[in-house]
Amino acid sequence: MDFNLTEEQLMIKQAARDFAVAELLPGVIERDEKAIFPHEQIKKMGELGFLGMMVDPKYGGGGMDTVSYALAMEEISKIDASAAVVMSVNNSLVCWGLEKFGNEDQKQKYLTKLATGEKLGAFCLSEPEAGSDATSQRTTAFDKGDHYLLNGTKNWITNGGTADVYLVIAQTYPEKGHHGINAFIVEKGWEGFDIGPKEHKMGIRGSDTHSLMFNNVKVPKENRIGEDGFGFKFAMKTLAGGRIGIASQALGIAQGAYERALQYSKERKAFGKEISHHQAIAFKLADMKTNIDAARHLIMKAAWDKDMHQDYNLSGAMAKYFAAEMAMKVTTEAVQVHGGYGYVREYHVERMMRDAKITQIYEGTSEIQQIVISRSILSE
Ligand code: CAA
Repeated sequence: MDFNLTEEQLMIKQAARDFAVAELLPGVIERDEKAIFPHEQIKKMGELGFLGMMVDPKYGGGGMDTVSYALAMEEISKIDASAAVVMSVNNSLVCWGLEKFGNEDQKQKYLTKLATGEKLGAFCLSEPEAGSDATSQRTTAFDKGDHYLLNGTKNWITNGGTADVYLVIAQTYPEKGHHGINAFIVEKGWEGFDIGPKEHKMGIRGSDTHSLMFNNVKVPKENRIGEDGFGFKFAMKTLAGGRIGIASQALGIAQGAYERALQYSKERKAFGKEISHHQAIAFKLADMKTNIDAARHLIMKAAWDKDMHQDYNLSGAMAKYFAAEMAMKVTTEAVQVHGGYGYVREYHVERMMRDAKITQIYEGTSEIQQIVISRSILSE
């Protein structure tokens, strides 16, 4: 068993780290405070190949493996979890879904631009009454001959306002339940497609989250992804890989908070010595490090499973579940190590604690991961 990363993987990790420190760190506190989307930085990420990392180079992507993608996600998330979720949705939900299940025309028309960052994508599954219970889609897309007519509302859509291309899940045959669901490619600006106000969020405030309203939007027949009725499987298969990206985001947030706590504990003195020399703090650091490394191993295993074309539904869910829970604990402890300083913005860790929370919620809550994991165990 070889735990070493390849030279190429190490280079990608370093490149992501350099970019994050040079381009994302400046202004990260202000972007969080004022909920500013990192337009310039995302544009540069596209130019550097971070938005279509795993896409085949013939469609403009980087042709990299999932391990490299997870490493880059960790490094970006360490500094700016908001930029990281933009990257994650574009890479694992939009580009991967289109490359894996789209037809050649769809890939030429959309994927080539999404992989280079020329256009940005959004993945639209959640609804006001269908978040965890994703089979209960109320958005409809009825077959009208040469087009589908799309109606409904999607909620909490990452990149909702900034995206150009939206993958929308909708019900075509309500009587067939989840077997009647389809996935469609929808473009911004189509008649009847409206974007709701930006959500005011607790964390990942630099990312752009909106509701979307579809009112008799005509979607050309050729924009359906896959066979008729494939939409729910499309969403599930795509999310299974997306969870590796979000697990890596959680890992990066935790690693970032841990590094700041470690540094602070070596500088701050109390009761006559650096606080790192007090066992109360040293034991916290030991727990943080151990849990972070455990999450990293689960994530690398899931990413490797995917690269080896092995089943990654279970390993991805375990990685996401553990990493998200771990990130919440580690960031909370990082604030505690900082004491009063941890509670103010300049020290970054309070933002990381707020950012960590979303990793327990999106792309399937922790409880959804427990369902996926337990079902897998019980069906063995
Ligand atoms: N791969 C392929 N097929 C899958 C699958 C997978 N990973 N998981 C489920 N399916 C299939 C099942 O085989 C089944 O198909 P058949 O009926 O043909 O056998 C079908 O999907 C329905 O599955 P279930 O009966 O298990 O459905 P369920 O309703 O009991 O539960 C669930 C499924 C796992 C709970 C699912 O609803 C789920 O994952 N919910 C969470 C949704 C989610 O993650 N939302 C996040 C929104 S996107 C987001 O957050 C992006 C962002 O902005 C960052």
